[in-house]
Amino acid sequence: MISNVVVSSILGHSGRGMFPLTLKLSYRKFVKKVLETKTTVIAESATRFKIVGNYQIRKPWTWWIYVRKLPRMSLLNAFGLTNDGIEKCAKKILRSAKKGFQVIPSYFPEFSKGLDIAIKEALEAIAIYQSELGDYFFALEINVSCPNAGEDVSKNMSQAVACAKAIKARHPDLTLIVKLSYLHPISLAEELERVGVNIIHGINTIPYGEVFPNKQSPLHKVGGGGISGGLAYPQALEYNTKLSKRVSIPLIMGCGITDLISLGEYKDIRGNGNSVSICSLVRLNPTKAIMAIEISN
Ligand SMILES: Cc1cc2nc3c(=O)[nH]c(=O)nc-3n(C[C@H](O)[C@H](O)[C@H](O)COP(=O)(O)O)c2cc1C
Repeated sequence: MISNVVVSSILGHSGRGMFPLTLKLSYRKFVKKVLETKTTVIAESATRFKIVGNYQIRKPWTWWIYVRKLPRMSLLNAFGLTNDGIEKCAKKILRSAKKGFQVIPSYFPEFSKGLDIAIKEALEAIAIYQSELGDYFFALEINVSCPNAGEDVSKNMSQAVACAKAIKARHPDLTLIVKLSYLHPISLAEELERVGVNIIHGINTIPYGEVFPNKQSPLHKVGGGGISGGLAYPQALEYNTKLSKRVSIPLIMGCGITDLISLGEYKDIRGNGNSVSICSLVRLNPTKAIMAIEISN
Protein backbone atom coordinates (compact mmCIF):
# COMPACT_ATOMS: atom_id res chain seq x y z
CA MET A 1 0.00 0.00 0.00
CA ILE A 2 2.90 2.37 0.72
CA SER A 3 6.00 2.42 -1.48
CA ASN A 4 9.49 1.66 -0.16
CA VAL A 5 10.47 5.27 -0.60
CA VAL A 6 7.83 7.90 0.10
CA VAL A 7 7.95 11.57 -0.90
CA SER A 8 7.05 13.81 2.01
CA SER A 9 5.61 17.37 1.75
CA ILE A 10 7.76 18.63 -1.12
CA LEU A 11 5.12 17.91 -3.79
CA GLY A 12 2.79 20.39 -2.08
CA HIS A 13 -0.83 20.20 -1.05
CA SER A 14 -1.88 18.50 -4.28
CA GLY A 15 0.88 15.89 -4.06
CA ARG A 16 1.87 16.43 -7.69
CA GLY A 17 4.22 19.40 -7.42
CA MET A 18 4.34 22.87 -5.89
CA PHE A 19 5.04 26.32 -7.27
CA PRO A 20 7.71 27.83 -7.47
CA LEU A 21 9.61 24.51 -7.57
CA THR A 22 7.71 23.50 -10.71
CA LEU A 23 9.71 26.18 -12.57
CA LYS A 24 12.67 23.77 -12.52
CA LEU A 25 12.79 21.11 -15.26
CA SER A 26 14.52 18.48 -13.09
CA TYR A 27 11.79 18.85 -10.44
CA ARG A 28 9.12 18.36 -13.10
CA LYS A 29 11.00 15.25 -14.28
CA PHE A 30 10.94 13.97 -10.70
CA VAL A 31 7.17 14.46 -10.53
CA LYS A 32 6.82 12.44 -13.74
CA LYS A 33 8.93 9.65 -12.24
CA VAL A 34 6.77 9.64 -9.08
CA LEU A 35 3.75 8.97 -11.26
CA GLU A 36 5.54 6.32 -13.34
CA THR A 37 6.83 4.40 -10.30
CA LYS A 38 3.56 4.77 -8.34
CA THR A 39 5.56 6.27 -5.50
CA THR A 40 3.50 7.17 -2.44
CA VAL A 41 3.30 10.90 -1.77
CA ILE A 42 2.42 12.43 1.58
CA ALA A 43 0.89 15.82 0.85
CA GLU A 44 1.93 18.98 2.60
CA SER A 45 -0.06 19.45 5.79
CA ALA A 46 -3.45 21.12 5.75
CA THR A 47 -5.47 22.57 8.60
CA ARG A 48 -9.27 22.56 8.95
CA PHE A 49 -9.43 26.20 7.78
CA LYS A 50 -7.16 28.37 5.64
CA ILE A 51 -3.92 29.64 7.18
CA VAL A 52 -1.62 32.27 5.72
CA GLY A 53 1.71 31.42 7.32
CA ASN A 54 5.13 32.87 6.62
CA TYR A 55 5.22 31.63 3.04
CA GLN A 56 2.51 33.38 1.05
CA ILE A 57 1.29 31.91 -2.22
CA ARG A 58 0.62 35.38 -3.65
CA LYS A 59 4.15 36.48 -2.77
CA PRO A 60 6.25 33.66 -4.26
CA TRP A 61 9.51 35.34 -3.17
CA THR A 62 8.59 34.53 0.46
CA TRP A 63 9.50 30.93 -0.46
CA TRP A 64 13.19 31.91 -0.66
CA ILE A 65 12.96 33.91 2.58
CA TYR A 66 11.43 31.12 4.64
CA VAL A 67 12.94 28.06 2.94
CA ARG A 68 16.70 28.63 2.99
CA LYS A 69 19.58 26.52 1.83
CA LEU A 70 22.17 25.59 4.46
CA PRO A 71 25.51 23.79 3.95
CA ARG A 72 25.70 19.98 3.66
CA MET A 73 22.63 19.64 1.44
CA SER A 74 20.31 21.04 4.09
CA LEU A 75 17.34 23.33 4.32
CA LEU A 76 16.04 25.56 7.09
CA ASN A 77 12.34 26.22 6.77
CA ALA A 78 9.72 28.20 8.61
CA PHE A 79 7.02 27.71 6.02
CA GLY A 80 4.37 28.19 8.68
CA LEU A 81 1.59 25.84 7.56
CA THR A 82 0.31 28.05 4.74
CA ASN A 83 -2.67 26.21 3.24
CA ASP A 84 -6.17 26.76 1.85
CA GLY A 85 -8.05 24.59 4.36
CA ILE A 86 -9.32 21.04 4.01
CA GLU A 87 -12.09 21.58 1.45
CA LYS A 88 -9.72 23.04 -1.15
CA CYS A 89 -6.77 20.78 -0.28
CA ALA A 90 -8.94 17.65 -0.63
CA LYS A 91 -10.04 18.83 -4.10
CA LYS A 92 -6.39 19.30 -5.11
CA ILE A 93 -5.58 15.76 -3.95
CA LEU A 94 -8.58 14.40 -5.85
CA ARG A 95 -7.25 15.92 -9.10
CA SER A 96 -3.87 14.25 -8.47
CA ALA A 97 -5.45 10.91 -7.60
CA LYS A 98 -7.47 10.95 -10.83
CA LYS A 99 -4.21 11.43 -12.73
CA GLY A 100 -2.77 8.33 -11.01
CA PHE A 101 -0.77 9.85 -8.10
CA GLN A 102 -0.91 7.88 -4.82
CA VAL A 103 -1.42 10.71 -2.35
CA ILE A 104 -1.89 10.45 1.40
CA PRO A 105 -3.28 13.66 2.97
CA SER A 106 -1.47 15.13 5.96
CA TYR A 107 -3.56 16.90 8.58
CA PHE A 108 -2.33 19.26 11.28
CA PRO A 109 -4.62 19.26 14.35
CA GLU A 110 -4.53 22.67 16.00
CA PHE A 111 -4.19 21.78 19.69
CA SER A 112 -3.76 25.47 20.50
CA LYS A 113 -7.54 25.82 19.94
CA GLY A 114 -8.15 23.36 22.78
CA LEU A 115 -8.23 19.55 22.60
CA ASP A 116 -11.99 19.19 22.06
CA ILE A 117 -12.02 21.60 19.13
CA ALA A 118 -8.87 20.04 17.65
CA ILE A 119 -10.47 16.57 17.74
CA LYS A 120 -13.81 17.82 16.41
CA GLU A 121 -12.03 19.53 13.50
CA ALA A 122 -9.89 16.45 12.78
CA LEU A 123 -13.02 14.30 12.54
CA GLU A 124 -14.65 16.89 10.27
CA ALA A 125 -11.53 16.87 8.10
CA ILE A 126 -11.72 13.09 7.77
CA ALA A 127 -15.40 13.30 6.78
CA ILE A 128 -14.45 15.81 4.07
CA TYR A 129 -11.59 13.65 2.77
CA GLN A 130 -13.94 10.67 2.68
CA SER A 131 -16.65 12.46 0.74
CA GLU A 132 -14.23 14.21 -1.67
CA LEU A 133 -11.78 11.36 -2.24
CA GLY A 134 -13.96 8.26 -1.86
CA ASP A 135 -11.83 5.15 -2.48
CA TYR A 136 -8.75 7.29 -3.11
CA PHE A 137 -8.70 8.03 0.64
CA PHE A 138 -6.74 5.05 1.92
CA ALA A 139 -4.62 6.54 4.70
CA LEU A 140 -4.17 9.74 6.69
CA GLU A 141 -1.08 11.25 8.26
CA ILE A 142 -1.49 13.36 11.38
CA ASN A 143 1.30 15.88 11.77
CA VAL A 144 1.84 16.59 15.48
CA SER A 145 5.43 17.68 14.92
CA CYS A 146 5.57 20.94 12.97
CA PRO A 147 8.24 23.21 14.49
CA ASN A 148 6.83 26.27 12.68
CA ALA A 149 3.27 26.33 13.90
CA GLY A 150 3.70 28.39 17.06
CA GLU A 151 2.82 25.38 19.26
CA ASP A 152 5.16 23.72 21.73
CA VAL A 153 5.61 20.33 20.11
CA SER A 154 7.48 18.98 23.15
CA LYS A 155 4.32 19.41 25.25
CA ASN A 156 1.61 17.97 22.99
CA MET A 157 2.01 14.26 23.81
CA SER A 158 -1.29 13.72 25.64
CA GLN A 159 -3.18 15.69 22.97
CA ALA A 160 -1.55 13.65 20.19
CA VAL A 161 -2.58 10.38 21.87
CA ALA A 162 -6.13 11.60 22.58
CA CYS A 163 -6.55 12.76 18.99
CA ALA A 164 -5.26 9.47 17.52
CA LYS A 165 -7.49 7.50 19.90
CA ALA A 166 -10.58 9.50 18.89
CA ILE A 167 -9.81 9.02 15.20
CA LYS A 168 -9.29 5.26 15.58
CA ALA A 169 -12.49 4.94 17.66
CA ARG A 170 -14.53 6.59 14.88
CA HIS A 171 -12.57 5.14 11.92
CA PRO A 172 -11.07 1.79 12.97
CA ASP A 173 -10.35 0.79 9.36
CA LEU A 174 -8.53 3.97 8.36
CA THR A 175 -4.76 3.53 8.11
CA LEU A 176 -3.54 6.18 10.51
CA ILE A 177 0.02 7.50 10.36
CA VAL A 178 1.36 9.83 13.05
CA LYS A 179 4.42 11.96 12.29
CA LEU A 180 6.66 12.60 15.26
CA SER A 181 9.25 15.19 16.21
CA TYR A 182 12.81 14.84 17.45
CA LEU A 183 11.47 16.52 20.60
CA HIS A 184 9.04 13.67 21.30
CA PRO A 185 10.12 10.88 23.63
CA ILE A 186 10.01 7.40 22.06
CA SER A 187 7.42 6.51 24.71
CA LEU A 188 4.95 8.62 22.70
CA ALA A 189 5.33 6.20 19.78
CA GLU A 190 4.74 3.27 22.16
CA GLU A 191 1.58 4.93 23.47
CA LEU A 192 0.37 5.61 19.91
CA GLU A 193 0.94 1.97 19.02
CA ARG A 194 -1.19 0.97 22.04
CA VAL A 195 -4.13 3.14 20.92
CA GLY A 196 -4.14 1.57 17.45
CA VAL A 197 -2.07 3.89 15.27
CA ASN A 198 -0.96 1.87 12.25
CA ILE A 199 2.27 3.57 11.18
CA ILE A 200 4.72 5.99 12.82
CA HIS A 201 6.57 8.51 10.65
CA GLY A 202 9.82 9.61 12.26
CA ILE A 203 10.73 12.46 11.96
CA ASN A 204 9.81 16.01 10.99
CA THR A 205 12.42 18.76 10.57
CA ILE A 206 14.59 19.25 13.67
CA PRO A 207 14.24 22.64 15.43
CA TYR A 208 17.31 24.81 14.67
CA GLY A 209 18.34 25.05 18.33
CA GLU A 210 18.55 21.24 18.64
CA VAL A 211 21.11 21.06 15.85
CA PHE A 212 22.96 24.29 16.78
CA PRO A 213 22.42 24.82 20.54
CA ASN A 214 24.77 27.81 20.70
CA LYS A 215 23.77 29.67 17.58
CA GLN A 216 20.96 32.03 16.67
CA SER A 217 18.85 30.86 13.75
CA PRO A 218 18.74 33.11 10.68
CA LEU A 219 14.97 32.70 11.03
CA HIS A 220 14.87 33.47 14.78
CA LYS A 221 12.24 36.18 14.25
CA VAL A 222 9.76 33.50 13.16
CA GLY A 223 10.58 30.86 15.76
CA GLY A 224 13.88 29.55 14.39
CA GLY A 225 12.56 27.09 11.82
CA GLY A 226 13.36 23.43 11.32
CA ILE A 227 16.42 21.84 9.77
CA SER A 228 16.17 19.06 7.20
CA GLY A 229 18.72 17.35 4.96
CA GLY A 230 22.34 16.49 5.79
CA LEU A 231 22.70 18.57 8.97
CA ALA A 232 19.73 16.76 10.53
CA TYR A 233 20.89 13.30 9.49
CA PRO A 234 22.93 12.09 12.53
CA GLN A 235 20.25 13.01 15.08
CA ALA A 236 17.40 11.75 12.90
CA LEU A 237 19.10 8.42 12.19
CA GLU A 238 19.77 7.92 15.90
CA TYR A 239 16.13 8.73 16.75
CA ASN A 240 14.77 6.34 14.12
CA THR A 241 17.12 3.56 15.21
CA LYS A 242 15.78 3.84 18.77
CA LEU A 243 12.20 4.05 17.47
CA SER A 244 12.61 0.86 15.45
CA LYS A 245 13.65 -1.05 18.58
CA ARG A 246 10.76 0.15 20.73
CA VAL A 247 7.69 -0.17 18.46
CA SER A 248 6.63 -3.09 16.32
CA ILE A 249 4.16 -1.37 13.95
CA PRO A 250 5.54 -0.35 10.52
CA LEU A 251 7.62 2.81 10.28
CA ILE A 252 8.22 5.50 7.71
CA MET A 253 11.73 6.64 8.57
CA GLY A 254 13.36 9.76 7.31
CA CYS A 255 14.94 13.17 7.80
CA GLY A 256 18.40 13.83 6.47
CA ILE A 257 18.60 11.65 3.37
CA THR A 258 20.90 13.32 0.85
CA ASP A 259 22.20 10.40 -1.23
CA LEU A 260 21.90 6.68 -1.87
CA ILE A 261 24.22 5.89 1.07
CA SER A 262 22.07 7.63 3.69
CA LEU A 263 19.00 6.14 2.01
CA GLY A 264 20.58 2.68 2.37
CA GLU A 265 21.41 3.28 6.03
CA TYR A 266 17.79 4.08 6.77
CA LYS A 267 16.62 1.03 4.79
CA ASP A 268 18.98 -1.14 6.84
CA ILE A 269 17.34 -0.13 10.14
CA ARG A 270 14.35 -2.27 9.26
CA GLY A 271 13.58 -4.45 6.26
CA ASN A 272 10.42 -5.11 4.28
CA GLY A 273 7.14 -3.61 5.35
CA ASN A 274 8.73 -0.31 6.33
CA SER A 275 9.41 2.78 4.24
CA VAL A 276 11.85 5.64 4.04
CA SER A 277 10.84 9.25 3.33
CA ILE A 278 12.59 11.95 1.32
CA CYS A 279 11.85 15.65 1.08
CA SER A 280 14.80 18.09 0.89
CA LEU A 281 16.67 15.87 -1.57
CA VAL A 282 13.88 16.51 -4.08
CA ARG A 283 14.36 20.27 -3.70
CA LEU A 284 18.16 20.19 -3.69
CA ASN A 285 18.97 17.41 -6.15
CA PRO A 286 15.92 16.14 -8.03
CA THR A 287 18.10 13.99 -10.29
CA LYS A 288 19.43 12.03 -7.31
CA ALA A 289 15.87 11.84 -5.95
CA ILE A 290 14.81 10.25 -9.26
CA MET A 291 17.52 7.60 -8.77
CA ALA A 292 16.32 6.99 -5.21
CA ILE A 293 12.77 6.20 -6.27
CA GLU A 294 13.83 4.37 -9.44
CA ILE A 295 15.93 1.85 -7.52
CA SER A 296 13.59 1.52 -4.56
CA ASN A 297 10.05 1.63 -5.92
C1 LIG B 1 9.65 23.33 2.52
C2 LIG B 1 9.24 22.25 3.45
C3 LIG B 1 7.90 22.12 3.80
C4 LIG B 1 7.50 21.11 4.68
N1 LIG B 1 6.17 21.00 5.00
C5 LIG B 1 5.78 20.01 5.82
C6 LIG B 1 4.41 19.84 6.13
O1 LIG B 1 3.53 20.57 5.65
N2 LIG B 1 4.07 18.82 6.97
C7 LIG B 1 4.99 17.96 7.50
O2 LIG B 1 4.62 17.04 8.24
N3 LIG B 1 6.30 18.10 7.22
C8 LIG B 1 6.72 19.09 6.40
N4 LIG B 1 8.03 19.21 6.09
C9 LIG B 1 9.00 18.21 6.63
C10 LIG B 1 9.30 17.11 5.64
O3 LIG B 1 8.15 16.37 5.29
C11 LIG B 1 10.37 16.15 6.19
O4 LIG B 1 9.81 15.45 7.27
C12 LIG B 1 11.60 16.88 6.66
O5 LIG B 1 12.00 17.83 5.69
C13 LIG B 1 12.77 15.94 6.92
O6 LIG B 1 13.12 15.17 5.81
P1 LIG B 1 14.29 15.55 4.77
O7 LIG B 1 15.55 15.70 5.53
O8 LIG B 1 14.29 14.40 3.80
O9 LIG B 1 13.89 16.83 4.11
C14 LIG B 1 8.47 20.22 5.22
C15 LIG B 1 9.80 20.35 4.87
C16 LIG B 1 10.21 21.35 4.00
C17 LIG B 1 11.67 21.47 3.65
